[in-house]
Amino acid sequence: MLMVVIRRDRMNKIKNLSVIGAGLMGHGIALKFAQAGTNVIVHDNNKEVLSSLIDRIRQSYSQMGVSENEIEIFIKNINISDDLNYSVKKADLVIEAVSEKLELKQEIFFEVEKKAPLNCVISSNTSVIPITKIVKRMSEKSRGLGTHWWNPPHLIPLVEVIKTEWTSVKVIDLVMFVLKKIGKTPVRVEKDIPGFIGNRLQHALWREAISLIENNVCDAEAVDIVIKSSFGRRLAVLGPIENADLVGTDLTLDVHENVLFDLENSKEPSKLLRKLVNDGKLGMKSGEGFQKWTKNEIENTKKRVSTHLRKLEKII
Ligand SMILES: NC(=O)c1ccc[n+]([C@@H]2O[C@H](COP(=O)([O-])OP(=O)(O)OC[C@H]3O[C@@H](n4cnc5c(N)ncnc54)[C@H](O)[C@@H]3O)[C@@H](O)[C@H]2O)c1
Repeated sequence: MLMVVIRRDRMNKIKNLSVIGAGLMGHGIALKFAQAGTNVIVHDNNKEVLSSLIDRIRQSYSQMGVSENEIEIFIKNINISDDLNYSVKKADLVIEAVSEKLELKQEIFFEVEKKAPLNCVISSNTSVIPITKIVKRMSEKSRGLGTHWWNPPHLIPLVEVIKTEWTSVKVIDLVMFVLKKIGKTPVRVEKDIPGFIGNRLQHALWREAISLIENNVCDAEAVDIVIKSSFGRRLAVLGPIENADLVGTDLTLDVHENVLFDLENSKEPSKLLRKLVNDGKLGMKSGEGFQKWTKNEIENTKKRVSTHLRKLEKII
């Protein structure tokens, strides 16, 4: 078996990054690395998406408050290519951010491994697919891992760094180190389970939220008001585990004894959610989901989120 050797100098620097997929996540991953001085090549097989990349990155930098001068400096670190071979041939790290389809990701990992240097580390930005499945066709699985960024990738600090049973500890250490160096907040996920940490927590909450609506406890608006006006306010500075300690583990136990038995525990997506999708009510992109959305409301919502995230960046 081929051993992946991370040279000492590599512990200090990833010089060449290749991002596969120039969509929403790929653009944000590229811009954060470029901002830190890494040479970035972004590859996509859709020429239109690829050609709009630099403009989208410029827009996001402005949204982050980066000056025009700095934007020009950072942009110089980014190249685009529709040739996969060229895109990865010098890469120290490849981050795959293509569409959420297992076979496609497996294919990309298989191809990249053949075309990239022997020491190149290859990670997937999948939201929920176990990395173990994605690296299945790699011959040297010790250099495959997950790096799950959150949307918007240039404003949300977290990256979950996911280890499979094969991933070398040196590879995990290297990626943790590099992500910290570019200003992200990486967290190790020691077991490769569906949804990793963040999406499991998030969708446990969404399952209960949808169930409350489905069971006529309240309407969709009320669910969001309750969260945004109560524990949502402190979540960014006080996690649930810190909170349990703050109120006391004894009180937490009492609450759990009196409520857990009644919480939603379905293993299937809700019927209400399925019906919305079947009826074409896909949310903001179709103008209606759980609620109706005008163009103005959509714009205002997106603006509200990015303004809030930018403010948080300065506080925390
Ligand atoms: N959107 C989110 O909120 C979010 C958050 C975290 C993680 N993710 C994950 O990140 C990944 C990308 O998501 P996104 O939202 O950026 O999607 P996206 O649709 O915006 O971008 C995906 C890109 O992959 C490209 N692509 C598809 N097949 C390709 C191929 N064979 N070769 C090269 N490029 C190819 C597409 O042209 C597209 O530009 C997915 O795995 C997704 O689950 C998404």
